[in-house]
Amino acid sequence: MTGFVDLHCHWIAGIDDGVKTPDEGVELLRRLRAAGFGLVVATPHMRPGMFDNDRRALELAFAAMCPRLSGREDLPEVHLASEHFLDDVVFGRLVKGQGLPYPDLGSDGGSTKEPPSGARRSRGVLVELSPQAFPAQVQRRFFDLVRAGLRPVLAHPERYQPVWKDDTCLDPLLDAGACLLLDVCALVGKYGRASRKAAEKLLDEEAYEAACSDAHRPADADVVTEAIEALDKRVGRAETTRLLRDGPRGILGL
Ligand SMILES: [Fe+2]
Repeated sequence: MTGFVDLHCHWIAGIDDGVKTPDEGVELLRRLRAAGFGLVVATPHMRPGMFDNDRRALELAFAAMCPRLSGREDLPEVHLASEHFLDDVVFGRLVKGQGLPYPDLGSDGGSTKEPPSGARRSRGVLVELSPQAFPAQVQRRFFDLVRAGLRPVLAHPERYQPVWKDDTCLDPLLDAGACLLLDVCALVGKYGRASRKAAEKLLDEEAYEAACSDAHRPADADVVTEAIEALDKRVGRAETTRLLRDGPRGILGL
């Protein structure tokens, strides 16, 4: 199957814990294309104290990679966003319009699809939380993001310890307008048993809007291929297509 869209991938070199060299980045993209992804969004970390990237640094790093990708038929289309760690600093940047939400490819990508008259379409924005505990006032923060025209796309909810205990802790975030993004590799145990069980439960509850690779190395693409097979086996082809193609396309406004 082709035409998958990956909303979460660390293929830009030397800027976070993703690929270390530009060659590795190109190789990761090549392997994801072979795994069925026709479009891959780079989502390098924005996490003060760990990955001190701001929007400008990420835009420059993306631009530095792009010449290596042009004219290559064996590579997917690429775009830039970021994985925003929702601490006070990054939250402040987001509400001030200084983050890197997903591009709206429906308005600047040539689509004729228009938002309802007078309405400004909100942009999806990839956010991650601490794995141990949700921050205080997390629902309020999500409401503030929505008010700022951003729809939170929560990265790998299956990896958060509060979700392992009781996944209804996600309800306030969903009520605020967020959607959930599965890291498909959780299904083959990449992050341990608890994450796998949580992912399977959320899949059974049809809680996910989309799925992604969160790949950091070229070799991760092999795990992604195995994980897509596991997803297909569990939910069937139509749901796999929704999670890896239609859901992500919707988040990009396509
Ligand atoms: Fe990530």
